[in-house]
Amino acid sequence: MSDKNCSIIGVDHLEFYVGNAKQSAFFYSHCFGFKVVAYQGLETGNRKVTSYVMEQGDVRFVLSSTMDPTHPIAQSVLKHGDTIAVLALEVPDAAKAYDYAIAQGAIGTIPCTDYEDEHGILRFAAVSTFGDVSVKFVERKHYAGNFAPGFVARYPAHHPSVGLTRIDHVVGNVERGMMNHWVDFFMQTMGFELQMHFDDRAISTEYSALMSKVLRKGGKTIVNINEPADGRRKSQIEEYLDFHHGPGIQHIGLATEDIVATVVRLKEAGVEFLPIPKTYYDDLGDWVQELEIPVEQLAELGILVDRDEDGYLLQLFTKPVGDRPTLFFEIIERHGSRGFGAGNFKSLFVAIEREQSLRGNL
Ligand code: FE2
Repeated sequence: MSDKNCSIIGVDHLEFYVGNAKQSAFFYSHCFGFKVVAYQGLETGNRKVTSYVMEQGDVRFVLSSTMDPTHPIAQSVLKHGDTIAVLALEVPDAAKAYDYAIAQGAIGTIPCTDYEDEHGILRFAAVSTFGDVSVKFVERKHYAGNFAPGFVARYPAHHPSVGLTRIDHVVGNVERGMMNHWVDFFMQTMGFELQMHFDDRAISTEYSALMSKVLRKGGKTIVNINEPADGRRKSQIEEYLDFHHGPGIQHIGLATEDIVATVVRLKEAGVEFLPIPKTYYDDLGDWVQELEIPVEQLAELGILVDRDEDGYLLQLFTKPVGDRPTLFFEIIERHGSRGFGAGNFKSLFVAIEREQSLRGNL
C-alpha cells in the first residue's frame, strides 16, 4: 500500500446536520466558545441550505440546516435528530485519496469536484461510511478563502474561547458484530492503523458493555469504533443506536491545555457534565497527589484522571447535547498518555447508567 495514496493531514471539519443551524450556532458560540467565521444561506444565494462555520483553536464545526423538506439534511434530521453527518479529512490530494478509497471498495457519494471563487479552487470528494455518515476528502492547498466557495466571512460579536485547541478523537457507534467490518474499512480505504482495542472483558462485565477499537492515521487523526457487547443491562451503545436510529458519531474528544479553566467556563455557560461520585476521588492512587491540580479541585469539577506507561490524562464527559441520548463531547487534557481513560470506564459507566436509568432506558 502506497501511503502517498491515502495521506491525511488531519480532521478538516465536522459537519453537523441540525434542525436549526442559527440556534445551534448560538449554542456552540455561547456555551462552547466557538466563533462564527463563515456563513452561507439565503443572503448568499443558497436557497436550500444554511451553514455556519464555527472555529476555536484548530477545531472547526460546520452547522447546516435546510429549508427544503426533500433535502438529505431534512431526512437526516427526521431520522437521527441533530447529528454529525460528515467527517471531513484534509488531504494533500483529494482525487488520489478518493480514487484509492474507491479502488479499495469504498462507495462514492460525491465524485472529485472543483469549487472555485476569487480565492482559488477548493477540491473535494466523499465516500460513505457507517450509518449515514460520509467521509469527505478536502484539498485546500489551492484555496485561500476562509472556508469554501459559496460562503461569506462573518464577524459576529466576540465570544471568548473556552480553550479548546484541537479534535483529539472521533468516536463512532456501530451495530453489534460490525466493529471489525468498519475498522477494516478505515484501514483498507484510508490507511488507518489499529492502535489498541478494548474488549468487553477489559471494559466491563457487570456494567453495560461495549467493545472498542482505536484507529490512528499519521499520528494525530484518531477514529474509535464501538459496538455493543452483552452485559447484564442494556449497553449504552444500544441506547445510542435505538435513539439515533442506526450507527453514527457518538462523541468527539476535544483537547484543551488547561482543563480546569475550560471546564469552569463551560459550566458557567451552562454545559452539563456527567456527575462523578465523590467516592471516585477517595479511591485514586497516591500518584494523583503529584498532579498540578489538587484532588479537591478535580472532585469539585468532576474531572477524571488516568495514567499508563506513557503519562497521564485528565478527562470528563458532557451529557448528551440534544434531546436524544446520542451525541456528547469529551474534554481531554493529555500529559503523555495516548490512551482513552480505560481506568475510568467502570466509574464512567456507573455515571452513564444512572443517566440511562433516569431516561427509562436501562
Ligand atoms: Fe473519548
